[in-house]
Amino acid sequence: MGLSILTLIYIIAAVTFIMGLKMMSNPASARNGNIVAGCGMVAAIFGTIFLYRNPDGNLLNNHLWIFIGLAVGAVIGIMAAKKIKMTAMPEMVSLFNGLGGASATLISVIEFNHLADQGFPDPLSSGSTMAIIFAGIILGNITFSGSVVAWGKLSGKVKDFAFKGQHIINLILLAACLGLAIFIGSDLHSSSTTILFYTLFALSLLYGIFFVLPIGGADMPVVISLLNSLSGLSAACGGFLYNNKVVFTGGILVGAAGTILTVLMCKAMNRSLLNVLIGSFGGGASSSADSEDGQYKEISLNDAAVIMSYANKVLIVPGYGLAVAQAQHACHELEKLLEAKGVQVKYAIHPVAGRMPGHMNVLLAEADVGYEKLLEMEQANDEFSTTDVVLILGANDVVNPAAKLDAGSPIYGMPILDVELAKNVIVNKRTMKPGYAGIQNSLFFRPKTSMLFGDAKKTLQSLAEEIKAL
Ligand code: TAP
Repeated sequence: MGLSILTLIYIIAAVTFIMGLKMMSNPASARNGNIVAGCGMVAAIFGTIFLYRNPDGNLLNNHLWIFIGLAVGAVIGIMAAKKIKMTAMPEMVSLFNGLGGASATLISVIEFNHLADQGFPDPLSSGSTMAIIFAGIILGNITFSGSVVAWGKLSGKVKDFAFKGQHIINLILLAACLGLAIFIGSDLHSSSTTILFYTLFALSLLYGIFFVLPIGGADMPVVISLLNSLSGLSAACGGFLYNNKVVFTGGILVGAAGTILTVLMCKAMNRSLLNVLIGSFGGGASSSADSEDGQYKEISLNDAAVIMSYANKVLIVPGYGLAVAQAQHACHELEKLLEAKGVQVKYAIHPVAGRMPGHMNVLLAEADVGYEKLLEMEQANDEFSTTDVVLILGANDVVNPAAKLDAGSPIYGMPILDVELAKNVIVNKRTMKPGYAGIQNSLFFRPKTSMLFGDAKKTLQSLAEEIKAL
C-alpha cells in the first residue's frame, strides 16, 4: 500500500515539475509555476522520507539525521534567498547549480565505496551501474568546480585566466576522464581501482575549473546555462542509481530545459556549442575599440525631456545598470508620462541584457510594465528605423557596434540592438566606463548619440520632473 501511494506521489510530483516549467515560460504565470513545482518537490521529499522502503522492505529509520540536514539546508536557503539582491541572482543560481553537482558526486562516491566494500559483486557492479557512477562523478564534479569558478567570475572575485593552447589541455583532460573511467571499469578488481577512482575525481574537478576559467567578457550566460543543464544530468544519474523515478525525471527535466536554454543562449551570443565545450572563446581576445578616446557629447535633462516629449515613438533599451539602480518603477513612470503626451513607448529587450536569462523581463514585470510593450531583439531591430528617440538605460555591451565591426573584439559576432538606426540615441549611465565585457563602446562617440550621465533612478526621476514642467 505504502509503495503504491509513494508511486502516486512521484507521478504527481513529476506532473507538477512539467506544469511548473510550462508556467515559468510566461512572466505572468512564472511565480505560480515555481510554487506548483515546489509543492511537488515537497510532496516527493516527504513521501520518500516516510513511505520509501529499502530492498529488504524496511522503512527509513534515520529520520533524526534527515530532518537535521533538511532544517540546516532550509534555514541557509531561506536566509540566502531573502538576503540576495536581484542583481546578484545569477551568482546564487551558479552556487545552486554547483551544489546540485556536488550532491550527484557524493551519491556516486558513496555508491562506489559501497560496491568496493563488497568487492564489486556481480551483477551489482554491472557495466551500466559503474557507467552511471562514473558519469555522476564526471558531470557532478565539472558542474561543481565550474559553477564555483562561474560564481567567482560573476561576483568579480575571480579574473579570466587563459594561456596558449588551453583548449588543447581542456580536451586532453576531458579525454583523460573518459579514458580513465573506461579503464577502471574494465578491471574493477585491480589493486589500483580506488586510487584511479580518486584520480578521476580530481581530474574532473580540474576540468571544471579549466573549462570555465578562460571564458571571458560577455560569454558567461552560455556557460551558466550549460552548467545548469549538467547539474540536471548529474542529478539524473542519482535517480538511475537508486531507481528513483522522481529524481530521474527532475534531473532530466533540468537537463533538457538547461540544454534548450544553452542553445538559445548560443544563438543569442552567436557562439557554437563546440566552442563552449572546449572553453576557448572570449577572455583572451583584444579589441581595437579598447583605445577609443574620441569626443562624446552630453545632453541636458531639459533637452532630453523636450526631444522625448515631442517624439512620435520612443524605444527604451534597459540593461544591467537599470537593475543595479532599481530604476524599473521610475522607468514605468516616465513611460506613462510620455504616453500621456501621445508618445508611443516600447522596450527593446536583448536576450542577454542584465546578468541572467529574462533579467529585464522580470525587472520590468516587477514595475507592472505591460508585456505587450516588450519587443524581442529581432522585433526591435525592425522598429528602430521608425523610432525618434532611443533611450538606453544602463545598457552597454548589448548596443556595442564592436560586435559587428571589430573582429578582434571579445563580443564580435554577438547580435546587438541596432539602436543607431533611430534618429536620436540618448545613453544614460554614470561614467564612460565599459560594461561587463570590459570594452569601450564606440556608440557613445557617434554623431547621433548624446550622453545623459547619472544614476538611472535619479536621472529618470529628474527627467520625469522636466517632462511634467514642459
Ligand atoms: P553591461 O554591458 O554590463 O553594462 C551595464 C552598464 O550599466 C555599465 O556600462 C554601467 O556603466 C551602467 N551602470 C551601472 N550602474 C548604473 C546605474 N546605477 N545607473 C546607470 N547606469 C549604470 O550591461 P548590458 O548591456 O545589460 O549587457 C549585459 C552583459 O552581461 C553582456 O556582456 C552579457 O553577455 C553579460 N552577461 C549576461 C548574462 C545574462 S544571461 N543576461 C549573464 C552573465 C553575463 P557606468 O558604470 O558608467 O554607470
